[in-house]
Amino acid sequence: MSSFTTVTVLLLLILSVVYSQDSSSSDGFPCPFYRELVVKNPPLNGNDIIILQQLLSRSFENVALSGNFDQTTSYLLSKFQSLNQIDDSGNLDIETANILLENNLADGYKDNGMIPPGFLYKVYVPVFKNRSIETTAFLYDNQMNVLLNFTVRTHGQMDNSTGLAMNEFCGDGSTPTGLMLFDFNSPEPDPVSFGPYPINRAVQGLTGNAYTIISNIRDGILLHTGEWPNWNPSMPMPNSHGCIHSHPDDIYQISQILPTLGVQMRQNTYGQLPYPYQPQGILSIELIE
Ligand SMILES: *[C@@H]1O[C@H](CO)[C@@H](O)[C@H](O)[C@H]1NC(C)=O
Ligand SMILES: *[C@@H]1O[C@H](CO)[C@@H](O)[C@H](O)[C@H]1NC(C)=O
Ligand SMILES: *[C@@H]1O[C@H](CO)[C@@H](O)[C@H](O)[C@H]1NC(C)=O
Repeated sequence: MSSFTTVTVLLLLILSVVYSQDSSSSDGFPCPFYRELVVKNPPLNGNDIIILQQLLSRSFENVALSGNFDQTTSYLLSKFQSLNQIDDSGNLDIETANILLENNLADGYKDNGMIPPGFLYKVYVPVFKNRSIETTAFLYDNQMNVLLNFTVRTHGQMDNSTGLAMNEFCGDGSTPTGLMLFDFNSPEPDPVSFGPYPINRAVQGLTGNAYTIISNIRDGILLHTGEWPNWNPSMPMPNSHGCIHSHPDDIYQISQILPTLGVQMRQNTYGQLPYPYQPQGILSIELIE
């Protein structure tokens, strides 16, 4: 081998090792999981472990969302594994990750039909497990009067390696469920992808899956439309990257109604964190079936 070839081969080997350790390489794990979790000293730490703990909290009481894969988390995981009749190693492997998402992804969040004091508007979005089915969302004022109902799509990107829709915990997956702080922002700069009208931004998750997801793990969950190529209002809307898609007419109407409620249009933050304004609205997204 020439020294050039040797160097090239070495570089490729190093690159492949680096790549396989990169957090974006999933090695067959369903996102948000991407690595095997085993107890180490010091413990492994990360957002994947916070989500793991949130999912385990749906099977067991008093699970701390520490983000550390410690003895307690591993013990609860082994209990989950034995309840599901799989190898109770206490380690997170691909099979366990799939079963955990299948059984525990639904957060059980239920909308209470109310708006907390101090907020000027609420948007309620019911969703089906099959996000390809568009649903009717509602805009309320602070007395819970319905001001508008409108069609929405909350389907995120497809995972092309599995042919399945990406779940709520994936970077570009379905819109997360739960209760969130919401605010009215000036238009995004790209009307083709986001429409020409002001948008609403999910600022912070309060309960449900949104509690861990927004905005620590996913940011830029918006309610918007688009000037989608080859689309017209008789058609289903395109999949989003996690946003709530709605028809141009409806997003225009929302942008006209909110100021009549005393809602200020904030200068769009384009995802800047921490969010610099006091959120004026509430977003409630509930899995109904
Ligand atoms: C989900 O809904 C879409 C649109 O109604 C439908 O075409 C599709 O077959 C459904 N998928 C499943 C798995 O039920
Ligand atoms: C939505 O609003 C339209 C027009 O006001 C009304 O006819 C329709 O019944 C409403 N749909 C729902 C599901 O409330
Ligand atoms: C999946 O494939 C479609 C069609 O090629 C593409 O538009 C989309 O961006 C891909 N999704 C991801 C997450 O790469």
